[in-house]
Amino acid sequence: MTALQGIRVLDLTHAHAGPICTLYMAAMGADVIKIEPKWGEMTRMFPPLVKGQSPYFLFLGRGKKGVTLDLKNPEGNDMFKELVKDADVVMENFSPGTMDRLGLGYDVLKEINPKIIYASISGFGHTGPWVNRKSFDPIAQAASGYMWVTKDALAPDGPPLQSPEAIADTVPGFTALIGILAAIVSRNETGRGQKVDVAQMDSMIGTMQSFSFWNLTQMSWTRAGKSGRVGVSGLRETSDGYVMFALPPGRITDSFTALLGVEELTPEIVDGWVKEKTTDEVVNILAETGVPVSAVLDLDEVQASPQAEAREMFVKVDHPTMGELVQPGFPIKFSETKGDISAPSPLLGEHNVEVYTRLLGYSAEKVEELRKKGVI
Ligand SMILES: CC(C)(COP(=O)(O)OP(=O)(O)OC[C@H]1O[C@@H](n2cnc3c(N)ncnc32)[C@H](O)[C@@H]1OP(=O)(O)O)[C@@H](O)C(=O)NCCC(=O)NCCS
Repeated sequence: MTALQGIRVLDLTHAHAGPICTLYMAAMGADVIKIEPKWGEMTRMFPPLVKGQSPYFLFLGRGKKGVTLDLKNPEGNDMFKELVKDADVVMENFSPGTMDRLGLGYDVLKEINPKIIYASISGFGHTGPWVNRKSFDPIAQAASGYMWVTKDALAPDGPPLQSPEAIADTVPGFTALIGILAAIVSRNETGRGQKVDVAQMDSMIGTMQSFSFWNLTQMSWTRAGKSGRVGVSGLRETSDGYVMFALPPGRITDSFTALLGVEELTPEIVDGWVKEKTTDEVVNILAETGVPVSAVLDLDEVQASPQAEAREMFVKVDHPTMGELVQPGFPIKFSETKGDISAPSPLLGEHNVEVYTRLLGYSAEKVEELRKKGVI
């Protein structure tokens, strides 16, 4: 059993924000049909290609059925509408207006299937003066204040800094996922679907504690944190590496103070104590004492860690042309319903025959004819 068994998603997403949302739906057992233009979705081309495949697509495409479909071809457009009749979710992250130009906007799709949940991610949402602006992760990092906050925390006198992972794609992707799941619950009650309109900028603003700190203290949250007693928290150098630990006021700080046998912790005392020890020693002592701590691990060390292994956080993926790949696992551990993302990303159009015969009742010959005509 999987949590989203029986939920079918028509996945038109590209780049990162949409695909990470549908990746997690696939992991929870949804039937995710990834519909690509005939030339393939953009992350397939993201460099560097290894044996003709992008590491990006190999990560985000997992567990999805891959079909090609030309939505600008009238026959292809009709096929999509046919698929909508029996689908639960349509998900897209094109620039706003794209689906309307294709004649596939929410107003059209809900006439075909009033139960459909139409989820959309865009840079700035489907309303407001910036509606027509296109966006990628760094654009949303810039527009939400996230780049400014990162600079303010790490290098206040330098230029704005960008987070290296696509945080302003992943947060919106998960925001959309929450919206879709809530819309499914609501639809189960009312029998009606709805549109879920998620903006990258909104999603980032909605999760940033800095705005609350700023409005009350004129400081971003890291700066406000550094100004209090938690000033001895943070990154420290050991005799053979780095550790990160956090000392909030209260019993955690008190137990660390008692461990060191001092009246009050100062950055100098903590520096001296840490420097004489190896990373392993510091981690073991602090973990024993109840202080939140970790060595600063590189990616190989994370993958080799016994904790990640125990939690099955790296899975082996058997890919038809790449062979065995190692990819991040699924981080939600349900007690009853399985979560899994070890199925490979599809090759372009790999499941055309399977999906169009299964969902539209076409013969294999008809699918081949559609391919020859350039519809798929
Ligand atoms: C990511 C983004 C900047 C890319 O911009 P872009 O490459 O110009 O793509 P757009 O979304 O504007 O348009 C996609 C085009 O491909 C077409 N297309 C997509 N799938 C198709 C299909 N299966 N068949 C035919 N055409 C297809 C669309 O119809 C559209 O064509 P049009 O411009 O003639 O209307 C833009 O999609 C965007 O801002 N998305 C919202 C924010 C977002 O999610 N960004 C990515 C974060 S990782």
